[in-house]
Amino acid sequence: MVAIRRASRYTGLSASIRSCLALLGFAGLLGGAGVFLLSMDGGETQRGTRGLVGVGAHSAGATLRKPHLVYGTAWKKEETAGLVRQAVATGFRFIDTACQPKHYNEAGVGNGWTAAAQELGLSRGDLWLQTKFTPIGGQDPNNVPYDPEAPLADQVRTSLEVSLKNLRTDYLDSWVLHSPLEAFEDTMAVWRVMEEAVDAGKVRQLGISNCYDLDVFRTLYQQARHKPAVLQNRFYESTKFDTELRNFLKGRNIHYQSFWTLTANRGALGSEQVKTLAEAKGLTPQQYMFAFMMSMENVTPLSGTTSRIHMAQDVAVMERVQSGESMFTTHEQRLFAKILGMPMDAPGSTAYN
Ligand SMILES: NC(=O)c1ccc[n+]([C@@H]2O[C@H](COP(=O)([O-])OP(=O)(O)OC[C@H]3O[C@@H](n4cnc5c(N)ncnc54)[C@H](OP(=O)(O)O)[C@@H]3O)[C@@H](O)[C@H]2O)c1
Repeated sequence: MVAIRRASRYTGLSASIRSCLALLGFAGLLGGAGVFLLSMDGGETQRGTRGLVGVGAHSAGATLRKPHLVYGTAWKKEETAGLVRQAVATGFRFIDTACQPKHYNEAGVGNGWTAAAQELGLSRGDLWLQTKFTPIGGQDPNNVPYDPEAPLADQVRTSLEVSLKNLRTDYLDSWVLHSPLEAFEDTMAVWRVMEEAVDAGKVRQLGISNCYDLDVFRTLYQQARHKPAVLQNRFYESTKFDTELRNFLKGRNIHYQSFWTLTANRGALGSEQVKTLAEAKGLTPQQYMFAFMMSMENVTPLSGTTSRIHMAQDVAVMERVQSGESMFTTHEQRLFAKILGMPMDAPGSTAYN
């Protein structure tokens, strides 16, 4: 058994050494049960039997109130099952996919989480699964997971049934409309069908993605019977980091899920200034970015890493945030926002409350 105790003693270690220690724990986990992985809050987190801090069976509500990372499964093709299995073994519990074979292997996600659950003794309630209905415009015309000639409502219903089968589950924790449709009435027509799925107990909550227009989001919110609980968008400078939208989400219990979080901010993350800031907290620049995101109210970054080392780093920083460690002073948060080019009064950040 590998036992790494009292991680707070290691706060002086460089990020790379700490990552290696976390990896040691990961390797140990695969080797047998009852293994303890480095938990940077100074405590121990037993994996496989209890799951991550704040992530447990039938506690989705409480869990969602804790900052966390979502494991993203796009572009992994035939590697999907193995990577999802590895992500869960490392400590991810939230998984994002889509019923869009062009970019996602949804069945691979189903195989991956069930394999990991079996190995680790986890149940469905220990995982949080999110998938998407992708309108026809976002599908590969040669590989559409529903009848493209069928009425829109039927396309949505079929997509859900395909997702449930692929994911090997009888309910989704979260079902996201991949993007608004061209006509708002079509967006609402899809939403009404998605609401039926909530009524039927097949879906716990709804969301929308690639919605960068506050008016569209607000109108959807106003007209929805089951309000959106998620907005999944690209987090980047071109949209001013969705500052207005995130302001709208605040206080409405809507999570902002960010993608492109690292990719779109590579320049800032590669700078010497950020490397220095991150190193001072024993973090890599990428971990620092994720910590910054999780320090904002209701902001949840996605990580689609394919690297074992990065998986371990991502889980380690998530655990640090979940442990309640105060990672940023207001000054540090403002400084980093400025480096990113994010509006200084960005709402949604605890630093600006
Ligand atoms: N709704 C949508 O339309 C939409 C669009 C795009 C993505 N998404 C979702 O968002 C997920 C994430 O996608 P993304 O575009 O943000 O990019 P990503 O797939 O997470 O890629 C991030 C890049 O950063 C690198 N990286 C370096 N250090 C890292 C670290 N510590 N942790 C994680 N990555 C690190 C990764 O390389 P390594 O692999 O070597 O770590 C990778 O090249 C997708 O899988 C998908 O679920 C949704």
